Amino acid sequence: MPAPTDLQQNATLAIQDSYAVLSSEQDLSPHNPRITTSLTKLVSTLTQCQCPVMCEYLLTTSLLETERNQLPGLCGEAECEMEKYWARKLIAAHQPDLNDFWYIAEYKALCDAETNMIAGRLFNRISFLGAGALPLTAFFLAQTAPQAKIICVDYDAEACELSAQLTRKIGLSDRIEIQQKDAAVYQPGENELVICASLLQNSQVVYANLEKRNDCDLLIRDAEGSYRFLYRQARLPSTSFRQVCKTAVDSRRINTSRYYQPVARHAA
Ligand SMILES: C[S@@+](CC[C@H](N)C(=O)[O-])C[C@H]1O[C@@H](n2cnc3c(N)ncnc32)[C@H](O)[C@@H]1O
Repeated sequence: MPAPTDLQQNATLAIQDSYAVLSSEQDLSPHNPRITTSLTKLVSTLTQCQCPVMCEYLLTTSLLETERNQLPGLCGEAECEMEKYWARKLIAAHQPDLNDFWYIAEYKALCDAETNMIAGRLFNRISFLGAGALPLTAFFLAQTAPQAKIICVDYDAEACELSAQLTRKIGLSDRIEIQQKDAAVYQPGENELVICASLLQNSQVVYANLEKRNDCDLLIRDAEGSYRFLYRQARLPSTSFRQVCKTAVDSRRINTSRYYQPVARHAA
């Protein structure tokens, strides 16, 4: 095996450093500047490591085995805390501006790519499972899918309370309903697009519920390449669903999105 290049060594050190910080701190929220600095550096490092050779190295080197297993969980916790922090900040603002959020450009790019992917489909309802305290996806959908009722689902009571307050504050509570429950027991309606957030737990149960019917489409947020240090690879549905298309890996957005339709609908 060839010796690692400078870029590979630097990226390895940056990922190891982020893991050392995140695994040693109690407070993973933006109130802790060590966390914010470390996550900013990690995201920027991974964004520069998108070429296949770098991804292959980072995803296979034995030097990063612990980080591959542990970092996505810690980053997920930090993301939940960051969303609560920003939801509180925006709720407290006299005139909340979503553009102040650090990762607004990434979310916009992600939602735009998803909107292009489902262009031409008019859904009665769109649900966002694992919506969190700062459901930006739902806020964008309220504009791009004006015909659809939008439902945010999250089992965390505090995340639901904050997202409900923020939704009211920005004047979207007539468009967006917040439901506090496990996505595994969520019942979609007819002609619904179900969006699974990248940190969604119990996604296999969600897919199994949807497989019993053929009137809902599914959009799954995944992570590919070196972004798998931030998010675990998504679980995918069974062959009852067919992947119609997926967004390309792109350094402007962290997640890729996979769009599925029920096979039974095509067969009918
Ligand atoms: C960081 S947050 C929000 C994700 C983010 N807004 C996005 O665009 O992908 C992930 C949320 O998923 C929620 N969650 C994870 N698994 C869930 C499940 N099975 N049912 C409901 N909520 C879930 C967590 O409570 C958390 O608030």
